[in-house]
Amino acid sequence: MPCNFVGPPVRGSDCYGREAFVNLVWEKLSFGHVLLASPRRFGKTSVMYRLIDEPRWDYRLVHCDLEHFLEPADLLTALVVQLSRDDVLSKIASALSYVPKKAWQGFRANVEEIEVHKLKLKLKEQIQPRWQSSGEELFDAIARSPETVVFLLDEFAVMIDEMAHLEARREDARLLLRWLRQLRQSPRIKNVRFLVAGSIGIGNVLSNLGESASMNDFEHLKLQPFSDPMADRFLQALSESHDIPLSAAVRKKVLQLIGTPVPYFLQIMFSEIAKASKERGIAPTPAAVQALYQDTVLGVDCKPYFDHYYGRMREHYDEQDEKAAKTILRTIANLGAVKRDTCYQIYRRECEGADIERFNGLMSNLENDFYVGFNSRQSAYQFSCKLLRDWWLRHYGMEG
Ligand SMILES: Nc1ncnc2c1ncn2[C@@H]1O[C@H](COP(=O)(O)OP(=O)(O)OP(=O)(O)O)[C@@H](O)[C@H]1O
Ligand SMILES: [Mg+2]
Repeated sequence: MPCNFVGPPVRGSDCYGREAFVNLVWEKLSFGHVLLASPRRFGKTSVMYRLIDEPRWDYRLVHCDLEHFLEPADLLTALVVQLSRDDVLSKIASALSYVPKKAWQGFRANVEEIEVHKLKLKLKEQIQPRWQSSGEELFDAIARSPETVVFLLDEFAVMIDEMAHLEARREDARLLLRWLRQLRQSPRIKNVRFLVAGSIGIGNVLSNLGESASMNDFEHLKLQPFSDPMADRFLQALSESHDIPLSAAVRKKVLQLIGTPVPYFLQIMFSEIAKASKERGIAPTPAAVQALYQDTVLGVDCKPYFDHYYGRMREHYDEQDEKAAKTILRTIANLGAVKRDTCYQIYRRECEGADIERFNGLMSNLENDFYVGFNSRQSAYQFSCKLLRDWWLRHYGMEG
């Protein structure tokens, strides 16, 4: 039975309802590489942990979070360190010519984090001046081993995007994409798979670098929100495991309030219902749940749960696009739906030298990042989820 978790990736029985998706990922990994895309907080990392916790066949899984990496040497250092933590693969890592032998035991022994950090720095120093040959040595060694190794690269697009925005790293981003592609195509490396996951659309990141074709050998799988029946069963399961009865009417109300059933939003709603019930004795009725939604979930107490939707624009959109996007979103939040033409007019007003191509790029980013959806019948944009629209209206609806 799942427990209520708001924030960290969920594992084991806490990871609800992803069996069919996990089966699909395994099927695709049996012969190729997978690009796992979904907006923030849909449960990508939890799915990756399920793959790690319940591996299939002779596959060994190696997981790396690339979110704060800014150069190829960061990536390769992390791959070597993670390999060394695997009982079977550690021998591959320890035999690499650039691994500092004396200090190596440290990686595997149960040493202080600070020591591990120092070792990583040393290793990166070795790899940095010749990352390509270091990488080739690593993958040649893997190719000679009998195991199939799956590299789970979390937030790959964020890393490439960050590099693309730095003058000094932009060329490295291109080189890394090409180098990885060459590696995947190499006939001598048959026992390596990549599962690349990301919460920002990789398409735009690649096209901004002029490298659109560099990942066209990946099978794209999109992690969807829960279906309504699945969301209802999930709420039921949470209510049973926490002994907080939720009637069918209350569960229906929750789904109505949040709109698209993103597991994270369900967890937040349940957490607030449980707190109100246990700490304040508020019985969960449809009216009480409605009040909790308005006052708490959309209020300042829960604001940090959703702040990344606002803050990430600063990190991933350029300044003019950020300003225009916020105005467009504010207009959509206020009006419910806004024609594409009107959005374009807003964009032109906000951005000097705006052209239709840049506008298209921005709108597809907003779609990929789960802010808006496009209704082709009405040729209009709407918020992709009711909760996000309500939240945007509450906190940013009046700006400007
Ligand atoms: N299968 C699931 N069952 C239950 N809760 C889930 C599930 N998937 C995600 N969640 C909820 O969403 C939260 C985030 O999950 P996770 O870290 O896996 O998402 P993510 O897509 O990797 O997020 P991010 O893009 O921010 O890295 C969890 O703390 C949990 O509340
Ligand atoms: Mg994640």
